[in-house]
Amino acid sequence: MTAPDIASNPPALRRRILVTSALPYANGQIHLGHLVEYIQTDIWVRTLRMHGHEVYYVGADDTHGTPVMLSAEKEGITPKALIERVGREHKRDFDSFLVSFDNYYSTDSDENRELCESIFLSLQAAGFIDAREIEQAYDPVKEMFLPDRFIKGQCPKCGAKDQYGDSCEVCGSTYQPTELINPYSAVSGATPVRRKSTHYFFRLSDVRCESFLRTWVSGLAQPEATNKMREWLGEKGEAKLADWDISRDAPYFGFEIPGASGKYFYVWLDAPVGYYASFKNLAARLGLDFEAWIRPGTETEQYHFIGKDILYFHTLFWPAMLEFSGHRTPTNVFAHGFLTVDGAKMSKSRGTFITAKSYVDTGLNPEWLRYYFAAKLNATMEDIDLNLEDFLARVNSDIVGKFVNIASRAAGFLVKRFDARVQDSAMHHPLLGMLREALPHIATHYEAREYGRAVRQTMELADAVNAYVDTAKPWDQAKDPANSVALHETVSVSIEAFRLLTIALKPVLPALAANVEAFLGIAPLTWADAGNVLSSARPINPYKHLMTRVDPAQIEALVAANRASLQPTDTTPPRQAASAAKTTVEAAKSGKGAKGGTVAAAAKSTESAEASFVSIDDFAKIDLRIARIVECKAVEGSDKLLQLTLDVGEEKTRNVFSGIKSAYRPEDLVGKLTVIVANLAPRKMKFGLSEGMVLAASAADEKAEPGLYILEPHSGAQPGMRVK
Ligand code: 2FM
Ligand code: ZN
Repeated sequence: MTAPDIASNPPALRRRILVTSALPYANGQIHLGHLVEYIQTDIWVRTLRMHGHEVYYVGADDTHGTPVMLSAEKEGITPKALIERVGREHKRDFDSFLVSFDNYYSTDSDENRELCESIFLSLQAAGFIDAREIEQAYDPVKEMFLPDRFIKGQCPKCGAKDQYGDSCEVCGSTYQPTELINPYSAVSGATPVRRKSTHYFFRLSDVRCESFLRTWVSGLAQPEATNKMREWLGEKGEAKLADWDISRDAPYFGFEIPGASGKYFYVWLDAPVGYYASFKNLAARLGLDFEAWIRPGTETEQYHFIGKDILYFHTLFWPAMLEFSGHRTPTNVFAHGFLTVDGAKMSKSRGTFITAKSYVDTGLNPEWLRYYFAAKLNATMEDIDLNLEDFLARVNSDIVGKFVNIASRAAGFLVKRFDARVQDSAMHHPLLGMLREALPHIATHYEAREYGRAVRQTMELADAVNAYVDTAKPWDQAKDPANSVALHETVSVSIEAFRLLTIALKPVLPALAANVEAFLGIAPLTWADAGNVLSSARPINPYKHLMTRVDPAQIEALVAANRASLQPTDTTPPRQAASAAKTTVEAAKSGKGAKGGTVAAAAKSTESAEASFVSIDDFAKIDLRIARIVECKAVEGSDKLLQLTLDVGEEKTRNVFSGIKSAYRPEDLVGKLTVIVANLAPRKMKFGLSEGMVLAASAADEKAEPGLYILEPHSGAQPGMRVK
């Protein structure tokens, strides 16, 4: 293989490149699964910047849609307030992991609205938009159409309860939401009804789309992606592509469709346009000609890094939308696999669903993870595994043991014995020649997204440098002044080798590289610096510790910090919550109130002994938790309710209304621990949303024997602990 000449980069070779990573949803935290992609993209971007190309890396939060709308409602805030807070949290996490966005924006922006409208109108003018009446599931209580993931019920194949509208987690079969037995809305618990509404469709079935996509697919970099595309496209004339429903009815958090009151762009339409919106916002700030970048015939390049699960959106809808609305199409789409931790899907109960913030808060160095992911990543869509033991071993052995060790062994001698200056003649040592020659190949591996190969080759070179030092034995050379020249050569070669290895690792370890640049007193390193050498004219600085080792206790702390006290915080209620919601609905339907409900009533019955028992599995569905009453106040306009703010060991406190006013003064409850049903479906009450139920004891006949007694655990119980 011949290495490209990267030592110089004349203007003609200066490429203009726009890069994106998928936009994370604005209703959840960034976790290590997300970070695979942002780190992968960032390494690529930094590689290209180190060549001197003009690269813009943009991102944004994906803010619209039903889940965000419901999350905000659950928190009792507006969607705008929610996306603003989450946007800040996401940016904080990306900064921590050194993800070098040139702009991080939001899809809920003016630029995005304008671009979506103009793309839609262009598509409409070109005959790609249809309006059609369709029938959909509708929640009569919540008064909204239900996306499939918000409909649950019994699996039509195996009968398992509480399955999502599209597939069964128990038997694995897939089906239509209409096939579910006893379907219910995961939002309110109500039984959905069918209702008609007009929707807008992007006519992907148009022959123009098919013929365009058949050509476009040939440019895709990944054979797996090309195969998938061919599968979706089918044989010529097979007409396999279905039209795409791009509208949603109010209430919906998003952009209203021009000329269609009450109809909104589906979030997946405005999300990819958000790439352009973010870039447009950046272009305005930098004075770039945005139009020149996004129109056909441009010399610029455009790449999207995504997860393999959203290939469909990026290789069918997005290029077709762009093509037929008069825009350039992506140069390429790069899909990666999923992250497993210790060989399994990330799991909250095992503590392997690790958030970016918890990683940082535990004191782990983000560059360790960058390095580990880089070592595992390649250009395919294969899943990658974070094995926590291997993570510790590899980071400690490679970064600290092999790489940093080179500088720490040599710098002391150079500074103390040789005025911190290298021996110029040593800069032509054959070992260094080998390193310089390897660097362009390493750069090529990065650009080909073969980071594992780049890192492996770099570590082989580090091994060679360490072997050289072990043979020369500077610690022995230092014992005899007669060996001074030889010692000077050994440590000079070591330090120059260290500089060259730093170039190779800089896309992965940018902060460490910046510290090395400061230590060596040199300008920011680029690939072209393979052609330069350290000079005796400029002394290096005293060595300061560059990187610590991973401590096994940190890994334990990380897993402990992520072991779920409570299940998902996203808007879809957890399985248990949904079934609890259903029980409540059924109880309500059968005329049994929540209090003194089915169980208590049955316990009194002598007729049906069987009905007085619940199985342990049924009991396990009720998630009882210790809660601390952080605040408590009377509710204006209610003579029964108190409003409690509860700490249940989650990130946020919960708001709960409880009918205990007759028994307690609010100030007497503040600071006390109690027990709540944590997975009761949130209930919208006249006074606000209630997110759980406080347990209280009362006599069977409350009228004869008034009195309410909330439960209080023995001392030692902590908020969030499960009651079983
Ligand atoms: O799958 C997701 O997480 C989406 N939020 C990705 C959107 S990528 C782009 F289209 F905006
Ligand atoms: Zn099933």
